[in-house]
Amino acid sequence: MGLKHIKDLKPDMVLDEEVRDINGRLLLKKDKVIQSSHIRIFKIWGVTEVNIQGNNGDKSPSNDPQCPEKLEKIEEIEENTRNLFCHVDMEHPAIKEIFRISVEFRSKHNLDDHDTMIALAEVDTPAKGNGNNFLQKLRNKKITLPEIPSIVFELNEVIANPLSSAEDIAQVVQRSPSLTALLLKIVNSPFYGFPSKIDKISLAVTLIGTREISGLALGISLISLFNKIPKEILSMYSFLRHSLACGIISRILAAHKSMPQTEQLFVSGLLHDLGRLILYSYFPDESRNILSRARSSDMLLYRQETDYLGCSHTHLVKYLLQQWKLPMVLENNVFFHHSPQDAQQPLPATLVHLADIITNGLGIGTSGERFVPPLDHAAWESLELSPSCFDVVTKQATHQYFALESMLDM
Ligand SMILES: [Fe+2]
Ligand SMILES: [Fe+2]
Repeated sequence: MGLKHIKDLKPDMVLDEEVRDINGRLLLKKDKVIQSSHIRIFKIWGVTEVNIQGNNGDKSPSNDPQCPEKLEKIEEIEENTRNLFCHVDMEHPAIKEIFRISVEFRSKHNLDDHDTMIALAEVDTPAKGNGNNFLQKLRNKKITLPEIPSIVFELNEVIANPLSSAEDIAQVVQRSPSLTALLLKIVNSPFYGFPSKIDKISLAVTLIGTREISGLALGISLISLFNKIPKEILSMYSFLRHSLACGIISRILAAHKSMPQTEQLFVSGLLHDLGRLILYSYFPDESRNILSRARSSDMLLYRQETDYLGCSHTHLVKYLLQQWKLPMVLENNVFFHHSPQDAQQPLPATLVHLADIITNGLGIGTSGERFVPPLDHAAWESLELSPSCFDVVTKQATHQYFALESMLDM
């Protein structure tokens, strides 16, 4: 079997895996013989790769898992990945599948080692609990945090007005050239899978909806507020990769659960670790200490944060989202992404929770955490998802991710 790009598909090839569109809708079942009409349908629904049976797929010797060198490399990757899963229950069926997919993904993609080189420099570490009044400091406004970009308010205003047209919304977006460029990049990528090029924001608004556009604009505007974190703490690029992948996976999981407004899940995933950006940008000394301590103790980073600051990155972002008066659903999904069962709406928080675990497993960027965070078993049960969906989810997600990765340079 092997992955075939859509342009290389030919009639009579046999599917080795079901084909679904971006929303998880089944287009063709496994073992079906592909006809030219199917290829047309795949193109219309934005499918770009499918798995084919037999020798039609790409099976060059270097990709042959039976090759001894390859086998040795896979074993090494498996061993390293297992170490990253040391805080999770490896017997859990969902974790087993995420682990299998992670090893496969890490074997296929040469991950950048720099992603894991975090804050190794020795620093003076004050006594434990030194920052216990940390949240209080924030609340007392002794620390100035960034303002939400005005374009977000303007956009919300124009969208809330029932008389606004797509053109009115486009006019607000276009006041920010970087936002316009990023939005067009996203709507033209496999993230949406439109068959023809969209070159105007007004057309994008008409096609994907006002709510979706404002959600995307919000996520992009907020994350770009923090464009500088000290290099020796963490690479911003790596942070953005982690955030983007988590957003994409959250959205695809939401589509699998047939949830409406999947853009909310994309934005929640994109912003889930924003609290760490606040930490790294505004409290570099504390950040270095926390990261060094987590590294030397092999402790989970959010537990180390709580140990050191008296609160974790989720509390920081909750504070900021409240200051910015952003929708409650964002707060729900972001604040509870490590404890989704405690959320008022556990379902969307669980999807971000799961997406974060998968993203850490795959190793696409990092927000500073080296390990795969533990799965909330009760939250997983209530999700009623089968681990077998992870294969399709991660394939769709990584395809969309690689198509969007270049936007991180913009
Ligand atoms: Fe987190
Ligand atoms: Fe994360």
